[in-house]
Amino acid sequence: MTTSTNRYNSIQVALHWLSALLILFMLVMGTFALSKLPNADPAKLMALRGHMMFGGVILLLTIIRIIWRKISEQPPHATTGNAALDKLGVATHVSLNLLTLLVAGSGIGTAMQAGLPGVVFGGEGSLPPDFSIYSARIAHGIFTKLLFALIALHVAGAIYHQFVVKDRLFSRVWFGRG
Ligand code: HEM
Repeated sequence: MTTSTNRYNSIQVALHWLSALLILFMLVMGTFALSKLPNADPAKLMALRGHMMFGGVILLLTIIRIIWRKISEQPPHATTGNAALDKLGVATHVSLNLLTLLVAGSGIGTAMQAGLPGVVFGGEGSLPPDFSIYSARIAHGIFTKLLFALIALHVAGAIYHQFVVKDRLFSRVWFGRG
């Protein structure tokens, strides 16, 4: 829904920054801590528990964000004066949501293939020696790398708007009126 408003509403702003923090935290911890911890390490179960719960929260927040975007007032797309860059901006936003869903979906797929819900939350059985034998785990690794790259492009675009186009884009994604 697009109207005369020139900024995102406060629910969207809150969802945006909460999702951004959680996704960045999960990408960094998943890459540099979780995947480096051997499955035989006793700390692995606890790490997986946290990772799977936060992953579920991110999935939920993403679905709520997509629905809220459809049903609430939206500002028009920001413009740079260059049609190709503007198209890239819109494509980046759509791809960010899609890729986040794919990351969460492939994480859940890995958990299903490895029987993790029972092991991690039910105390039944034990972890497999390695997750890399599962196709969903391979997809999860690739999607997370792509998400890192897309977030970098998204941040570069925001900085370009703020400091080169000088359209005060950041104020659209912060709390306030008018
Ligand atoms: C949507 C947010 C999520 C993000 C950003 C995320 C991020 C990551 C990252 C960066 C890795 C390491 C990838 C690598 O270095 O190859 C990883 C591994 C993993 N993730 Fe996720 N993940 C998410 C959701 C989930 C969910 C919902 C589950 C399961 C319910 C899950 C289960 C796993 C498992 C089992 C691993 C393998 C750990 C290992 O190899 O030791 N993830 N995740």
